Amino acid sequence: MVQQRMRIRMQASLADVAASAPTPPSHRPGSMDDLEWQSELAWEVYPRRHPFASWEAVEALNAEMRAGEWGELVPEASPVAETDDGRVRGFVATIRRVPKFDLPDCPYVINVITAPEFRRQGIAAGLLGAAAAALLADGEIEIALTVDDDNPSAIALYESLGFTEIGRVPA
Ligand SMILES: CC(C)(COP(=O)(O)OP(=O)(O)OC[C@H]1O[C@@H](n2cnc3c(N)ncnc32)[C@H](O)[C@@H]1OP(=O)(O)O)[C@@H](O)C(=O)NCCC(=O)NCCS
Repeated sequence: MVQQRMRIRMQASLADVAASAPTPPSHRPGSMDDLEWQSELAWEVYPRRHPFASWEAVEALNAEMRAGEWGELVPEASPVAETDDGRVRGFVATIRRVPKFDLPDCPYVINVITAPEFRRQGIAAGLLGAAAAALLADGEIEIALTVDDDNPSAIALYESLGFTEIGRVPA
């Protein structure tokens, strides 16, 4: 029998994430102007399945993002880390409230990627810590995200920052 792939919803206290994260690499706030190259990097690193099954699907998703259907990106909680010569090390993208899918009433991380050549250097953990600090300063208390159940590196990353599972949905 083929096992149904699941997406795991996780949540953490922002204070825990900020306290557990290493010092972040230097970074700048993200914006919707970053969406195009972030989608290209996502296309390179994610498996060819929903929501990256086809480039058309990615463009449709981006159109929904630009139309505000996924909520408002929080620039200070969407840090982008680059090298001095402008290569992307990694980024986090966070939405204030996603008005879809009955998600928890807190900011929601929609994307976390470290470029393959910069992995295991604490970049994703550091950027998530920087995002958490920015959200805490904004008066937020918690943060949520969704991760595929067959993505052990990401699950390990989130658990290392204090995220715990709050539910599962079919992928
Ligand atoms: C998941 C991902 C973002 C991690 O980025 P990273 O910058 O390499 O992660 P960090 O170096 O900050 O890792 C912090 C901790 O997370 C855990 N972790 C990260 N990658 C891991 C791996 N491949 N195996 C086991 N644990 C891992 C470890 O606990 C690590 O701490 P340690 O290195 O001291 O052991 C990166 O692998 C990636 O971009 N993957 C493809 C995109 C993706 O799946 N994003 C998540 C979508 S939900």
